[in-house]
Amino acid sequence: MPQMSDHRARALELIVDRIDQTAADAPTAGFPHYADPGTGAWTRTPTGDWTGGFWVGELWLAARVTGDRRYAKLGRDWAQALRPRTASETVFRGFLFWYGAALGAVLHDDEIAAEIAVSGGRSLATLFNRSANLIPLGSEAEEASDVGRGEANIDGVPGGTPLLIFAARRAGQPELSELAETNARRHIELCVRADNSVCQSASFDPRSGKVLRRYTHKGVRDDSTWTRAQAWAMLGFSQAVCAGADEFLDVAMGVSDWWCEHLPKTAVASWDFDDPDGPRDTSGTAIAAASLLKLSPVAGTRGAVYRETAEAMADALIEHHLTGLDAADARPAGILTDGCYNRRIGLATANELIWGDYFLLEALSVMEGHLNSEEV
Ligand code: GLY
Repeated sequence: MPQMSDHRARALELIVDRIDQTAADAPTAGFPHYADPGTGAWTRTPTGDWTGGFWVGELWLAARVTGDRRYAKLGRDWAQALRPRTASETVFRGFLFWYGAALGAVLHDDEIAAEIAVSGGRSLATLFNRSANLIPLGSEAEEASDVGRGEANIDGVPGGTPLLIFAARRAGQPELSELAETNARRHIELCVRADNSVCQSASFDPRSGKVLRRYTHKGVRDDSTWTRAQAWAMLGFSQAVCAGADEFLDVAMGVSDWWCEHLPKTAVASWDFDDPDGPRDTSGTAIAAASLLKLSPVAGTRGAVYRETAEAMADALIEHHLTGLDAADARPAGILTDGCYNRRIGLATANELIWGDYFLLEALSVMEGHLNSEEV
């Protein structure tokens, strides 16, 4: 019987095969967003929506894992295609330009990618609201409802935090790091509950900064714990710690401990922790696995638990939700199935999601020794 480590190595090969297929299939039709898990056909977006950076991030990681510079060249081409998005009024420029551009600089010393990342970080910073002490969603944020300069959600901390710290260092503008830390601090006040579960979203008065309500964009209820809210919080605060902001270690461990305590025995979470029998969201579990791997080396005696939990989650994802490990599987290989994009509006509730693919690739790259978790 094959060992788990054989499966992990094989899973990495399958995911890289899927990247090859995605790159070859309609390469000029836009950024892959979500796909039909039966046929592998992608729904693409012309300018990258909030998710285009994860596709480019997969290319940067594939270059690291395989050593094949062809992927880095593709990564640079796609990063250039993100350039117009510096002008989009959305907090999700953090995802677009950290994964889509900064990773090219961090992993491959790509100067063009570095310049695009700095430009993305600087433009993101212009959305910061000094009364509210945070970066709001913005009028062009790709959420299904409730966007604008008086709305915020926890999804605005991951990606944006390391991007701003990267841009601060590259451009010699320390104020960008201060802004990233202020934004993260304010999201603790808005989104992290006393028991360390996470509320996704908040509305506030853009003039005074006064908080008007706490709610959810995508969870089952305002007081429930939407799985990706918890996972994005784990990731954002862990990225802040990895970038040197030690003050976020306690909150990163608090939200991570909550995840570990509430994870079902199958090691794959449903879409919302308050709907345990609802559809799985493999993308939330993949984000959490990559995040726990980042926190593990800096978490003292908890580090081993975080590593074991991350490995159990990644193994469950590849054993039960990745196509192609079973040779009898007729579906295209290398697809992470059972991602739930938006259950509230019935959008892609059992699909391949490009960010789920990215975070499973990141976690496996760390587990197989190709990547240090804190690099990304
Ligand atoms: N807005 C990011 C997400 O749907 O997870």
